[in-house]
Amino acid sequence: MSFLSQTLARVKPSPTIAVTTRAAELKAEGRDIISLGAGEPDFDTPQNIKDAAIRAINEGKTKYTAVDGIPALKQAICAKFARENDLTYTPAQVTVGTGGKQVLYNALMATLNAGDEVIIPAPYWVSYPDMVLLAGGTPVIITGTLENQFKITPEQLEAAITPNTKWFMFNSPSNPTGAGYSWDELKALTDVLLRHPQVWVLSDDMYEHLAFDDFKFCSPAQVEPALYDRTLTVNGVSKAYAMTGWRIGYAAGPVALIKAMAKVQSQSTSNPSSISQYAAVEALNGPQDYLESNKALFQGRRDLVVAALNTCPGITCPVPEGAFYVYPDIAGCIGKTSAGGAVIANDEAFVTALLNETGVAVVFGAAFGLSPNFRISYATSEAELTEACARIKTFCEGLN
Ligand SMILES: Cc1ncc(COP(=O)(O)O)c(C=O)c1O
Repeated sequence: MSFLSQTLARVKPSPTIAVTTRAAELKAEGRDIISLGAGEPDFDTPQNIKDAAIRAINEGKTKYTAVDGIPALKQAICAKFARENDLTYTPAQVTVGTGGKQVLYNALMATLNAGDEVIIPAPYWVSYPDMVLLAGGTPVIITGTLENQFKITPEQLEAAITPNTKWFMFNSPSNPTGAGYSWDELKALTDVLLRHPQVWVLSDDMYEHLAFDDFKFCSPAQVEPALYDRTLTVNGVSKAYAMTGWRIGYAAGPVALIKAMAKVQSQSTSNPSSISQYAAVEALNGPQDYLESNKALFQGRRDLVVAALNTCPGITCPVPEGAFYVYPDIAGCIGKTSAGGAVIANDEAFVTALLNETGVAVVFGAAFGLSPNFRISYATSEAELTEACARIKTFCEGLN
């Protein structure tokens, strides 16, 4: 019998981390690599946030803190929800963890029993199904289509719900597609959920500040207040404030759930870094003007990438509403052979040949539950994006 647990055998390592690691290895070997795999902003954490962290160190705020967050941060999070989302929470309804990732994991660990189902719209963030599996639950995937901008319909949601459904995981704007649900589109989904009181909503709002054109971000508990008592609203500072390495995520929801999540954290990691928590207080309470300028920057990059990809033979790329990803469809490339002689049997073969032959690293669609596609993270300079898209175009033109 294997020494490793049976639970672990059901889970795969993160493919996005695998791609980023492979690209870094090739770079270290001297190859000219453009890595569009990692989901993190390419700019530095703002200075006022760094200063707050340095102050925390100098003031000796370097000890254990309350397991799920210092009061000042919980206050700042309540203020953020009130200011930006019209959601009223008290500090007792707030939990802070080591990244949004841990917060999501805590929620699933705190609630899932064998047989519990979690509905996950695909394309999904790679970690969702595996987290559900680790927590002992069963992922139930419903798939958005290219024609519907990768969004699911209320009918699909209705059909997926069973008496065993515990959570509906919702992520808008989405990683990996950038798709964002409008108020009306989200209302149509929450209307379905209202009819099924056993289903709770896990809303991952990590990309809320990256909403382009006239798309307006909205969150389920805001759109349907009747779901407030069964919604966990998750967010974090990683993407909005370029703080991926600081590892601070948070959530707000019903007190009993928040307490249960703190229990999971108390017996695993305890508090997130005290220094990062003080930095996050500054991120949320300090000046917010860079959110707008970052958004404008990302929107420009999105436009550049979408336009360039749509000139590549075999590729169709919808215009996403938000986040910093595009998710082009490559149905027109499948079954062909690359200039380097690789048979493009599926999207994994496409990205492998693309990396080997052009040095552009992207993540294949199967990792996110919809093929044939790939994901580009355009959180890098316009010069690199232009060069990467030119290489992708040459690669596609070479397919036959
Ligand atoms: C959709 C989504 N949710 C959550 C996270 C977790 O972010 P973090 O753990 O850095 O807060 C990510 C990170 O890539 C993400 O893309």
